[in-house]
This record gives sequence, structure tokens and C-alpha cells, in this order.
Amino acid sequence: MQTLETARTKLDKRGFLDLEVDPTLDLYEEINKLKKEKNAVILAHYYQDSDIQDIADYIGDSLGLAQQAASTSADLIVFAGVHFMAETAKMLNPGKKVILPDLKAGCSLAESCPAPLFAKFKEKYPDHVVVSYINCTADLKVLTDICCTSTNAKYIIDSIPADKPIIFAPDKNLGAYLNKVTGRNMLLWDGACMVHEIFSKEKIVKIKERHPNALLIAHPECEAHILEIADHIGSTTSLLKYTLKSPATEFIVATEAGIIHQMQKASPNKTFIAAPPENNCACNECPHMRLNTLEKLYLCMKYELPEILLSDEVIEKGRVCIDRMMEISAKAGL
Ligand code: 13P
Ligand code: SF4
Repeated sequence: MQTLETARTKLDKRGFLDLEVDPTLDLYEEINKLKKEKNAVILAHYYQDSDIQDIADYIGDSLGLAQQAASTSADLIVFAGVHFMAETAKMLNPGKKVILPDLKAGCSLAESCPAPLFAKFKEKYPDHVVVSYINCTADLKVLTDICCTSTNAKYIIDSIPADKPIIFAPDKNLGAYLNKVTGRNMLLWDGACMVHEIFSKEKIVKIKERHPNALLIAHPECEAHILEIADHIGSTTSLLKYTLKSPATEFIVATEAGIIHQMQKASPNKTFIAAPPENNCACNECPHMRLNTLEKLYLCMKYELPEILLSDEVIEKGRVCIDRMMEISAKAGL
């Protein structure tokens, strides 16, 4: 068994505290105890494993999680999500300690847009406003004028004068969808999410043939050929609300499969079918999100490690684009 000190020294390489957890422990009980003792709040994204969702204080989409992180009175923010989300929480509430069960929980979309490359690209278009999807690194946020999430993206784009050219980064699929719904012609960075690019239109059509009443609901990070056949397109929260309100009883869900846990809880009598990927792997589960486990969550709360640390400069410069987004969202009542 490793000691805390050796685990701590390996933290950078491993990304999490690699310590053994007593298998007889009731992790739910232990985590709840730690929550009280430390005045901690657990914020979880819909794409987390269901056991993490079940112990969270708040489960939501990227915007909801950012809003919760900004307004929490807890002393310790435990972020059950991916790195860019925890960074955003830290930027919004720099006085609080923010911890993430596994620092390696990254995001293929955020990685597809390295800040130094983007800085060079941006230099070529000095008159453009830069709008970045929140799924990007803190360093990219420093180079961004306004951030957005899938919930507020249309409002953010519409808030920019029509004659102002825009660069949209990093998601080309969300960007193309936004160009369609806003009538803009934004310049798109060539990034994408590995999970939302994996869905097979052919297999979805086959499922539709077998379930003719099933509605296809899709996240706008999906490719255009999937969005074209969708009955509803929206953020994770929007998809969840849609399944609750819709009189339909069967849904094909084209986003990360973790959200189905909340859909099924909210509508126990409805059927949810995870949209199938091109191959036979579990690729509709985000490998980054799923790096967090209940054991890592427990260890991270117990030792308050790994912690999200950002320089004052990155926090100060990076949060400007997030503050703008929060302001526009609040005005739009989101
Ligand atoms: P939302 O949380 O805005 O629905 O986005 C989904 C996502 O891909 C998060 O990584
Ligand atoms: Fe990133 Fe895609 Fe995973 Fe969301 S689902 S965290 S966009 S890789």
C-alpha cells in the first residue's frame, strides 16, 4: 500500500491520488461525512457515472455548473466533471479551493485547440470577435472575447452586432450549427468532440425503423448529418427537459450516454436508447469524464487533492470572457 506522501509525489504523472481504498467502506456514507465536515459541495456533470451523479449536490450542464460554482457558499468545490469545467469554477470563484478527482480528465475538444496555435490564427483576423465554447483551456479563454455554452450560444452570438465578423472556437460542429440558426458566417476552428463525432446515422435510421415512434434528440456537438435528422437539438439540460415534457415515450439519445440516468429517473415509464457509435465500442461514453470514479472522488475529498491551481494572471484575464457570458445569460434569463 502506498503512503499519502508517495502518492502525492506521483500526482502529476498519474493525475489522481493512487491510494488503496478499504473495500469494506461505504463510500456514500464516507463522502457524505466529508461533505459535512469540510463544508464541501459536489458539482457533477450529466456525463458522470450514475453513482457519482447520485451523490452530487447539483447535477447539470456546463452553464448550470458554472452558475453553481460562482454562487456557492461552500468552502470546498468538488468538481465531478472534466478539467476545463473545474478551471472555470476556479476562475469564477478564485477564493475557493477547487478539486477534481482526476486531473487527467481532459476533453478532446479543448485539446483540439492549443492556445499558441490559436494565437497565431487569431493574429490574421484582428477585426474578428473571438467567441469560444466553454469546452476550452484557461489559456484559450485568455485569448477569447466571449465564452458560451451550448445552452446560451445562440444568445451570445446574437448579442454581437451583425456587421462584426466572428471567429468561433474550438467546435466546428457546434459552430456550423450556430451559423445555420443565427444566419452568421463565423470563421470556424477545426476542432471536434470525439464522443459526438462517433454516432452512426445508418444505425440510427435502422433503430428508427424498428421504433417508428422514437424521437431522435441530439446535442449540437454532433455532426450535421445527425442534426439534420434530429427531432430536437439542444444542450444536455435542454434534452433532459424535452424528454420530460414531450408526450413521446421513446427517445434515441445522441449525446454522451451518462445523461440517460437522469432521463430515466425523471421519466421512469419512458424508453431511452443510446444512439449507437460507428463501431461496437462504448464510444458514446466520454473516456475523459469516466476517469472520475467514486473511489477517486472519496480520496480527493479526504486529502483535498488534486487541486486546480491557476496563476492570478490567467484567472484575471481568463475570466473576462466568462463574466461576459454570465452577464448575457442572466439578461436572457438562462
Ligand atoms: P453541455 O453541458 O453544455 O450540454 O455540453 C456538453 C459537453 O460536451 C460537456 O463536455
Ligand atoms: Fe469533451 Fe466531448 Fe468529453 Fe464533453 S463529451 S468532455 S466535449 S470529449
